[in-house]
This record gives sequence, C-alpha cells and structure tokens, in this order.
Amino acid sequence: YAYIALALGLAYLLGSIPTALWVGRRFYGIDVREHGSGNAGATNTFRVLGKKPGSFVLLVDALKGFVAAYFLPMWLVSVGAIQPEHEVYYRLACGVLAVVGHIYPIFAQFRGGKGVATILGMMLGVAPATVGVCLLVFLAVLLTTRYVSLSSMTAGVAFALLQLTPWFAPPQPFLIYVGFILAALLIYTHRANIGRLRAGTESRVPLPWAK
Ligand code: G3P
Repeated sequence: YAYIALALGLAYLLGSIPTALWVGRRFYGIDVREHGSGNAGATNTFRVLGKKPGSFVLLVDALKGFVAAYFLPMWLVSVGAIQPEHEVYYRLACGVLAVVGHIYPIFAQFRGGKGVATILGMMLGVAPATVGVCLLVFLAVLLTTRYVSLSSMTAGVAFALLQLTPWFAPPQPFLIYVGFILAALLIYTHRANIGRLRAGTESRVPLPWAK
C-alpha cells in the first residue's frame, strides 16, 4: 500500500505544479492571477503573456495529466503493487488527483487553474479517440463563438455524453462516471465564466485571420 499511497501523492504533487504562475513570475515578473481572467491556466497565459508562454503552459499542464495517468500506474504494475487488470482504475485515480492538484495546488495557495489542459492530458492516455472528437467539438465552438470557456465546457460535456454512444463506450463502464464527474467539475471551475457569459462580458479570443 505504501507504493499506492506514494503514487497517488505524487500525482497530486505533479498536478500542483503551477506552470502559469511560475512562468509568469520567473520570465515576466507577473502573477497571471492578477491579470485577465485571474486564472492560472494556459488560456489566461495566452491572453496576458502571449503565444509562446501560453503554448508552453498548455503543453506542461497537459503533460502533468498525461504523466500522472500513464506512467505512475505503469510503475505500480512494474513494482508489483497492483495487478495489471486494475491498472485502468489507478490511471483514472492518478489522473483525477493531478487535475485536483492543478485546480488546488499546494505550491500556489490552492489557487490554480480550471483543469482543462490537465484533463486533456490525462484523457489522451485513457481514451484518445474520444479526446480527438472532443478537440473537434472544442474547435467548432471556439471558431463560432470565440469563447474558450464555453468551448472547454462543451468539450467536457461532449466527452461524458460520447461515452454513452456505442462507438465511444469505454471497455470499463467506470470511466463513464469519471467523465460525468469531470464534466461537472469543469462547469464548477468555470462558474465565474458562466456568470460573465450570461452577462455578456466574457472576453473573446481574436481569430488569427481577423487582424
Ligand atoms: O483554460 C480554461 C478556460 O476554459 C477558461 O480560461 O482564463 O478564460 O477563464 P479563462
């Protein structure tokens, strides 16, 4: 059990790495939580600091989820701490803990991001085909509305709903619950965005060709 506790703890700590905050402070002398939407995530880094740091934060935040959900359970199997047939449950548990760490990071006063990039990374390791369709949903909503928040929430809900279809039904029905829990979590972390969307004050992203 010591190995399992270690893996779960590491997943949370990995998710807790506040990439947006550290990049902003280290290279720009800026706390991204005091600018733009106030969120310590990739979208707000794009908004406040630009494309390069934004892409870097997106990549690292997604990697946190991927590494937690993919490599930690693999390590647990390799040391004999869990049976290979149980690996998938630990992938979900480690992935979800990384997402929780990202949203409530121990290294940043528990004020982190909204979980989108880290969920993307964890699910790439668990259900890549479903993630592919969700990325298309994300892009379609983004191109039509230019709201990243709305695109993220729609993609999250699409992920949960897709699993109810015969084409994307996961081999482990358990994943369906995780999908719905994560969709609910995304709506919860975007509650301020929902308020702004309803008030018509949510910021839109510029389209690259609309200069
Ligand atoms: O990355 C989270 C995104 O869905 C919304 O971010 O900064 O616009 O609140 P933001």
